[in-house]
Amino acid sequence: MIITIDGPAGSGKSTAARQLADRLGVAYLDTGAMYRAVALAAVRAGVDPADADAVTAVARRSDIRLICGPRAARVFLDGVEVSDQIRSADISERTSLLSRIAGVRAELVARQRQIGKDLGSLVTEGRDQGSVVFPDADFKFFLDASPEVRARRRFDEMRAHDPGLRFEQVLSQIVSRDGADSTRAVAPLLVPEGATRLDTSDMTIAAVVDWLAQRIGKKGASR
Ligand code: DC
Repeated sequence: MIITIDGPAGSGKSTAARQLADRLGVAYLDTGAMYRAVALAAVRAGVDPADADAVTAVARRSDIRLICGPRAARVFLDGVEVSDQIRSADISERTSLLSRIAGVRAELVARQRQIGKDLGSLVTEGRDQGSVVFPDADFKFFLDASPEVRARRRFDEMRAHDPGLRFEQVLSQIVSRDGADSTRAVAPLLVPEGATRLDTSDMTIAAVVDWLAQRIGKKGASR
């Protein structure tokens, strides 16, 4: 059983996907972490982010391993843990730019499909999971929330690491990153065909997970 959860930053999809996978007893895949690991690898290799071929070559040669547990995804790049480094504001910006490169996407899409094949069942989250990577998924969801709510969630998460952070700064970053993710030519962020959309603005994570599990339970039972 493949379940896809797509949506913008701060929509609650990562936490919901993790908890849903835990509840269903299946694996969870954080595909954003894969793009982030390539961005970090490119920085470390000193590659010009505008050089699509060079960045694609970095993606192809990077060994990216994920251990996705119910509370967090641990990420290893070429054998070394980079879970914290890939979450910085700088890497977030660079990842958004790099995720436009068709060669990078082709490489990571192939790896994600292989993971799906190997595991058989998983909850996978990102921007293109229901539209491009697993168009025949058993269940497809698209989570969304207002920009203010999404920025507030990110701000609360990030403030622990960066006490000087300003809310307005996070809001403007989120709006510009979403704009870039939604308007790029390759695999833009969109509601995949056949996906059920949920606005999580006024919902707790627990309520979102209950809602997702209910949809799966009902439809799964009627199939
Ligand atoms: O979900 P996230 O914030 O970790 O994603 C980081 C960036 O990677 C974001 O700008 C969008 C991009 N991304 C993507 O293009 N496709 C995916 N499947 C996952 C993430």
